[in-house]
This record gives sequence, structure tokens and C-alpha cells, in this order.
Amino acid sequence: TVVYVPRDAAALAVGADVVAGAIHAEAARRALPVQIKRTGSRGLFWLEPLVEVATPQGRIAYGPVQPEDVPDLFTAGFLSGASHPLRLGSPEALPYLQGQDRLLHARLGVIEPDRVDDYLATGGYRALEQALALEPPELVAQVQRSGLRGRGGAAFPAGIKWDTVRRAPGPTKYVVCNADEGDSGTFADRMVLEGDPFSLIEGMTIAALAVGATQGYVYLRVEYPHAYRTLTAAIELARARGYLGPDVCGSGRAFELEVRVGAGAYVCGEETALLESLEGKRGLVRAKPPLPALAGLFGRPTLVHNVLTLATVPVILAEGAEAYRDYGCGNSRGTLSLQLAGNVRRPGLVEKAFGMSLGELLYDYGGGTASGRPIRAVQVGGPLGAYLSPSHFDLPLDYETFAAAGAMLGHGGIVVFDDTVDMARMARHAFAFCADESCGKCTPCRIGSVRGREALERVLAGGPVEAELALVRELAATMRDASLCALGGMTAYPVLGALEHFPEDFTARARSGR
Ligand code: NAI
Ligand code: SF4
Repeated sequence: TVVYVPRDAAALAVGADVVAGAIHAEAARRALPVQIKRTGSRGLFWLEPLVEVATPQGRIAYGPVQPEDVPDLFTAGFLSGASHPLRLGSPEALPYLQGQDRLLHARLGVIEPDRVDDYLATGGYRALEQALALEPPELVAQVQRSGLRGRGGAAFPAGIKWDTVRRAPGPTKYVVCNADEGDSGTFADRMVLEGDPFSLIEGMTIAALAVGATQGYVYLRVEYPHAYRTLTAAIELARARGYLGPDVCGSGRAFELEVRVGAGAYVCGEETALLESLEGKRGLVRAKPPLPALAGLFGRPTLVHNVLTLATVPVILAEGAEAYRDYGCGNSRGTLSLQLAGNVRRPGLVEKAFGMSLGELLYDYGGGTASGRPIRAVQVGGPLGAYLSPSHFDLPLDYETFAAAGAMLGHGGIVVFDDTVDMARMARHAFAFCADESCGKCTPCRIGSVRGREALERVLAGGPVEAELALVRELAATMRDASLCALGGMTAYPVLGALEHFPEDFTARARSGR
């Protein structure tokens, strides 16, 4: 019998390795032939470790499984899918998964991430085969037609970026994957790297063919050791099978791929700081222009994309640009990888076509708060995303609607807070975060974040609220308008959002009561 146990970092954090060990030991004790396969996670984190058993009726899931549950599961006959208090039934039939549009994340928790044959058996490398038969302009046109926009957060049309790099003159071009997933509450990049790494490798290879690059780099955050191991192993395997190297699939086209590990700076997720770091320098932001698409890594035309953007490319080619475009609404086409975190009952990964409302995500999927108290605030789009209140829960999740509401979807990270949250502290945290992570290149960010943090500390200590808040507003506005990059520029969002939507937390009376 085959038993699937995730080896995704989120599952490991709640004991998946110990559970796998317990299953192995119990099977040996009972002399039962059990083969344990280690997969990525399906992204239903409150059910991890989520163990699945292959039965003639398909896979049956049990979870969350603790090591001490294992003997009991064997006694109940879980190897044949028998009933047990932890039995969840078919994983695909779980409402959390059934309601999703799993295009990009279809293989998560299903395949063994380091087996090329698993990838091939689930449609992998079909897109590359098609891409090798197309001329670069046709490939770019497909991405353009799909409506794909950058999933790192800025939502710039991917096809325009590809075309810019393709048309840029010069014999040497690069494809760089931004895997420096630094936003709070985000983990979708990591899950792809750990659970379906060949999709990224294939996406980068297709992108390289389209823009004329022969070398690619994945810039991976140092905090992702499991992703590093899985990705580097997958690259080796892809090379051994001829999917990477001097002669990709016998086409005569070359593409090499290497992984570079960052050193823990948030700002190195900003594309120009990332490129500096890749070049071996300190991660200082560069002024744009020139755009990296024209003068990026080592001054050469460079296609920089987030993990999710690149890993979506094989989906677009395999399913067809129009089929991908059919998902979504307005100018937000395809699916978005939403990541539910913080004080939420059912945290995890929700891949859904653009257009679902924020409230639907928070309640239908998230199940409200883990504490059982009312949701008071959610931060959408990372540590520099706006804080939204329940009055925003009708907002459909698409780029334009969020921008119009003074917010942003960013990389799709959503952090939930209940009614015990102190929004003045959260605003202070935004300044403090920016002060810690600022690269120091420009004054509004370097100095403004420190002065803003100090002003809010005086408010928190019971200081004169009106004068301090006027200063905070001015500092935030200056940072928004005059910072060189999004780190300083977007710190205004959580600060001004907290002030606008939760003014009661900043009043002297509220403060004296805390
Ligand atoms: P941006 O809007 O300046 O650029 C977006 C992308 O489009 C860049 O790659 C840029 O080089 C490219 N681009 C712009 N104009 C172009 C043109 N005419 N031709 C070709 N390419 C062009 O935004 P930026 O500063 O790169 O990113 C800011 C975003 O990053 C924020 O909105 C935020 O959501 C996100 N972010 C994501 C984080 C994460 O962990 N994923 C962390 C922090 C921020
Ligand atoms: Fe550096 Fe901050 Fe200026 Fe960005 S805004 S360039 S992080 S100092």
C-alpha cells in the first residue's frame, strides 16, 4: 500500500517527519508492506500532517495525524481507507479544495516533487515541447493573449515585459526568478518550490526560449532550506534528462539554471536590489530607468519574474492562452494564489479565479478567526499592504478594485486579526519594519521610517495625539511620494490605512485605557 505524507516545511513544522517514521515503524511491526511517498502539501494547513492512502477508490485522507494516532489508524484499517475519527474522505472532495481553481497548484500534495516521471505523468513538459516548435514572437504573443500579469505583486503585464526583453539588442540575456518571498503571511512560492519545482524550471526554460536567454538564476531566500534542497535536486534531474543544458530536448537551444541564496534582506526582493545581490554586491536599490528588461543583471537585458508568474507559463501553454484568460474578471485574468494566515481558523493556500470577494475568502474558506472572536482587520499584500476593515469585505479580489480602494492584492498574502488587535501598534510596526529593512539609499525611507516609528511610540506612551499624528501623516505621505522604491513608498499604506479605518485606536482616551 502506498501512503503519502507531505514533506512541505509547513507539514514538517507540525511533525510530518515523525508521523512518517511512526507509519514506517508500525507497518514493520505488523509486517505490512507499506511504501511511504513524500509529497508537497495541498495547502490545508489546519489538517497537517495530512496523510493520504492509495485505495482502489482513489486516495483517502486522514488528518491532522499525530504520531500517537498511528497504531490506532492501523488497527482501524486505514490502509484500506477504513473509517476512523480522523478520516476525511477523498481529499479532492474537501470543500476547501473542491471550490478552488487549481491550475497552477494542481500537483501540490499529489506528486513526489523530485521525480521527473511524476511530473511527466501529470502533463509536465508538454508545454516545453510546444514552445520548442514556436518562434519567439509567437510564444510572447501567447503570454500576451493569456492576460498574465506579474504575480510578485506589481501586476505588470507579463507579455509586455517579455516583448521588451525579446526586442532588447545584445547576444547575452538572462531570466531571473525572484524567489525571495519576504512578505508576511505568504508561502505560495515556497510551496511551488517544495511541491512542484519542475513547473518553475519548465516555465523558466520556456521564458528563456521566448526572450533569447541562455542562462537563468533563481534567487532564493536563505530562510527556505527545504526549498533549496528540492529545487537544486530537481535542477540536477532536469539536466540529467536533457531538459536543461547545452541542448534542451535535442533542439540545439541552450539553457542553464542555477540557484543563488540570499542573506535575509527583505529589500533584496525588490528586483534591482536582487540583481545587485546576484552580482555579488550589497543589496542596494538601483534607480529605474534603466529597466531591468533593458539593462538588468550585469547590465544585460533581464527578464525578472516571481516564482508564480514563471510557473504559470506551462499552464498557459498546455491549456491554451484563451482557456487561461477565461478565468478571472476585468483586467485581472487567470487565477490568484491567495495565502490565508494569521488569526484564521483554516489557514492555507486558496487558488481561485480573480473576482471572489474578500469576505468569501475569509469566511467560506478561512472559517473566521482561530480565536473565535470577530475579525476586525485584515492586511492584504504583505507587511506594506493596507489594513482593511469589515466594511471592505465585499470587495472582489482583483487588481483594479483593490487599487481603487487604496489597497493592493500584492503577492496574495492575507493576514487576519481579531478584535483584540491594537492598530496603533500595527502602524508603529510598519514604520519599524521599514526602518529595519530600509537599504538606506534614499532619505524619505531611511529617516522617515525612524521618525515615524518614534512619533507613534510617543502616541503609544500617551503623548499628544493630534500633533504626533499630523507628523505621522506628513511623514507617510512624503515616503509615499518621494521614496525610490516600493519599500519606503508603500509603508504609507498600512500607516495611513490604520489611521483612516481605525482612528479610534489612536485617540488619547483609547490609549489611556490600554
Ligand atoms: P513596478 O511597478 O515598478 O514594476 C513591476 C515590474 O514591471 C518590474 O519588473 C519592472 O521592471 C517591470 N516594468 C515596468 N515597466 C516596464 C516596461 N515598460 N517594460 C518592461 N517592464 C516593465 O513595481 P516593483 O517596484 O517592481 O514592485 C512593487 C511590488 O512588489 C509591490 O506592488 C508589492 O506588491 C510587491 N512586493 C512583493 C513582495 C513579495 O514578497 N512577493 C515583497 C514586497 C513587495
Ligand atoms: Fe532603499 Fe528605502 Fe529608498 Fe527603497 S525606499 S531605495 S529601501 S532607502
